[in-house]
Amino acid sequence: MQNPDVEVPVSENAHAADQEEGDELRRVRFPTVFAVARRANGVKDQTVIELRELCRTFVVQRGREEIVTRALGPITLSIADLQFVGILGRSGSGKTTLLRLIAGLVQPTAGDVLVDGQRVRGPGPDRAVVFQQSALYPWRTVEANVRLGLELSRLAKKGTADEIVHRLLDLVGLGDFGGYYPNQLSGGMQQRVGLARALAVSPRHLLMDEPFGSVDAILRRELGAELLRIWELDRRTVVFITHSVEEALTLSDRVIVLKDGLVADDVTINLPRPRDPEAISDDPAFLQLRRSLLTTL
Ligand SMILES: Nc1ncnc2c1ncn2[C@@H]1O[C@H](COP(=O)(O)OP(=O)(O)O)[C@@H](O)[C@H]1O
Ligand SMILES: [Mg+2]
Repeated sequence: MQNPDVEVPVSENAHAADQEEGDELRRVRFPTVFAVARRANGVKDQTVIELRELCRTFVVQRGREEIVTRALGPITLSIADLQFVGILGRSGSGKTTLLRLIAGLVQPTAGDVLVDGQRVRGPGPDRAVVFQQSALYPWRTVEANVRLGLELSRLAKKGTADEIVHRLLDLVGLGDFGGYYPNQLSGGMQQRVGLARALAVSPRHLLMDEPFGSVDAILRRELGAELLRIWELDRRTVVFITHSVEEALTLSDRVIVLKDGLVADDVTINLPRPRDPEAISDDPAFLQLRRSLLTTL
């Protein structure tokens, strides 16, 4: 359904900017407008990631013996457009395997992953991944690291790429650090660069595997708040993996609990947005959800 209250100035601005720019680049330059346009068109509840009877086993050789581990599945679930979905589970519950299957970094043993209706056969620029370790190139400056995805995908011309890189570095609070090298930054700053790099290609979907798992608790909360602020400005589907109940609850619209590779719980989080992580942790609804999730874990 069209929402007459929402203005979508995409075509006018974009065509004026450059006739040659494809839809993809326009989305890079005006990501929020695109998100708003999708929502205004009632696309919000549309399934964008679908798992069908998804399984993954691993075979490990132990001497002459083959040990088969079922890391995941069977799992069947749908993730809606522009939702922030937390995947919560203890260590070894299959979270990373699930994320890597959606990213196309591993293939299912059985079942399917569909993203935007297409079966996933490998990684693609529609799905950016942020890992626990930021995996930045040490010989590239912060700016050059963020620009990497744009260079690889030839998504933007030089001038446009610079504009995108600067906008993103400002967004993650690193506007003054473009010329630094990764080893000159703290762990939290490196994770911010990783996030900026992922956002640079303007992926439809953002996949995050315990992105703040290696920083201290206070910084973790700050980075979570920052991610929320960015997500509010520039919404997209996020699959966010964590073993922290509080982090999952603070960030997510929906929390899926994994246990021994299976979905043990699937909870809608109706806490009001925008959220203040500090304030929300005292909310009685938060505390009740927390108790219930801790029991399931
Ligand atoms: N490449 C692999 N080879 C063998 N076993 C694996 C591999 N990856 C994951 N597993 C096993 O699958 C299970 C789930 O792992 P993982 O998805 O990494 O869990 P989590 O991210 O929740 O800690 C674990 O038992 C793990 O040992
Ligand atoms: Mg993991």
